[in-house]
Amino acid sequence: MAFAKKKLFIKTWGCQMNVYDSQKIADVLIPMGYEQVDTPDDADMLVLNTCHIREKATEKVFSDLGRMRPHKTRREEQGKKTVIAVAGCVAQAEGDVILDRAPYVDLVFGPQVYHQLPQMVAKVTGEDKNRVVNTDFPVESKFDYLPEEHESPGPSAFVAVQEGCDKFCTFCVVPYTRGSEFSRPVQSILDEAKRLVETGSQEIFLLGQNVNGYHGTGPNGKEWTLADVIKSLADIDGLSRIRYTTSHPCDMQDDLINAHGEIDKLMPYLHLPIQSGSNKILKAMNRKHTHEEYREIIAKLRAVRPDISLSSDIIVGFPGETDEDFEDTMSIVRDVVYGSCYSFKYSARPGTPAAIMKNQVLEKDKDSRLARLQSLITDQQSTYNKSFIGQTLPVLFDRKGRDEGQLIGRSPYMQSVHVKGNERLFGQMVNVKIKRATASSLSGEIDIID
Ligand code: 5AD
Ligand code: SF4
Repeated sequence: MAFAKKKLFIKTWGCQMNVYDSQKIADVLIPMGYEQVDTPDDADMLVLNTCHIREKATEKVFSDLGRMRPHKTRREEQGKKTVIAVAGCVAQAEGDVILDRAPYVDLVFGPQVYHQLPQMVAKVTGEDKNRVVNTDFPVESKFDYLPEEHESPGPSAFVAVQEGCDKFCTFCVVPYTRGSEFSRPVQSILDEAKRLVETGSQEIFLLGQNVNGYHGTGPNGKEWTLADVIKSLADIDGLSRIRYTTSHPCDMQDDLINAHGEIDKLMPYLHLPIQSGSNKILKAMNRKHTHEEYREIIAKLRAVRPDISLSSDIIVGFPGETDEDFEDTMSIVRDVVYGSCYSFKYSARPGTPAAIMKNQVLEKDKDSRLARLQSLITDQQSTYNKSFIGQTLPVLFDRKGRDEGQLIGRSPYMQSVHVKGNERLFGQMVNVKIKRATASSLSGEIDIID
């Protein structure tokens, strides 16, 4: 008699690394008899994979947990064991606090230990009903212990190449929640990429908190840079597109810049956060570069790949930011001209140096600066996207739209492109003639297919 599979529901917040982690968490749990489901109803195990980078994340996690409590109570009244787990960066930062505040949570585990899930799940589902908190940074690398993927992630796949951060920007929790910088050995990255391509992925998105600081050991025993890894990946037949994120300006070395001019499979897109245009604020943020150095990198990139689309993260209202500093941020955005840009109000993260700086900016000033910056960015993105109207772009369809017959994919420049098209085009690279553009996406018609 076949046993019914246990249902696993995972909710993911935050960055691409968290999305990748959720896939890996599923890969560990599926061999234990779980199958992934899309809704929490009747799930035997609920995992909240959390993000701590900006404000209110913790409160959102507790309110979500509150909603899950009746679900657990109802099921347990029917004699069905239900495991509630909190994973990710809030789990790492809050640990025991979560068990104290939410007595119905069974398991709390940080981003570095999900390869140990079989043991943890065995403990919490056992007779003694143990509760487990695991926020260790084990000496062994989880990458060495993770099983191979169970399902193809689809046309576009993430591969973590590097994790953690030693940069300690004064506003950021990542060095505390993800731990210190670690680069995966080259061979395991290449093996994972090959497997993904064999199961149908055409695009590989290399992930790392400081991905361009990658310095892993190559098959020849020498240290490889990210550019070396990209060159090797480009030799994989069937792989059409390579991307990487997130990069730090200080690690933007010439071999990587030049790779953008040399490797066709490396897409003309780079997310390179500047955070602020003021040298005074960059210094207080401990970014270790000036806006002039950043501009120089952009100039070099554009020299080797003139059509490269640039993207950035910007924080407004960092402690000590004056109107003048903010104008410097507006200037750099105007000068660089981004294809896309993410902007955030500074939020004090407990335990980070900037949180206790004396000169915090008033909320109303943060609000007005953010509004001005976002209006500039929206104009810029809209002009940028409209410049593609009339062009034909190769689009890799990796999502289905909400409406029947709608497909969504990405252009080489990372824009979302919407078309009406047959479902059989899902997973394919198709030429699309761009007809319309907004600040956030393009739409068009499929060019004649043979
Ligand atoms: N406040 C506001 N934005 C932040 N970010 C990181 N920490 C904070 C914070 N404390 C932003 C940065 C980073 C992006 C992922 O989130 O811009 O690049
Ligand atoms: Fe955070 Fe700075 Fe590290 Fe990026 S480089 S993860 S912003 S500390």
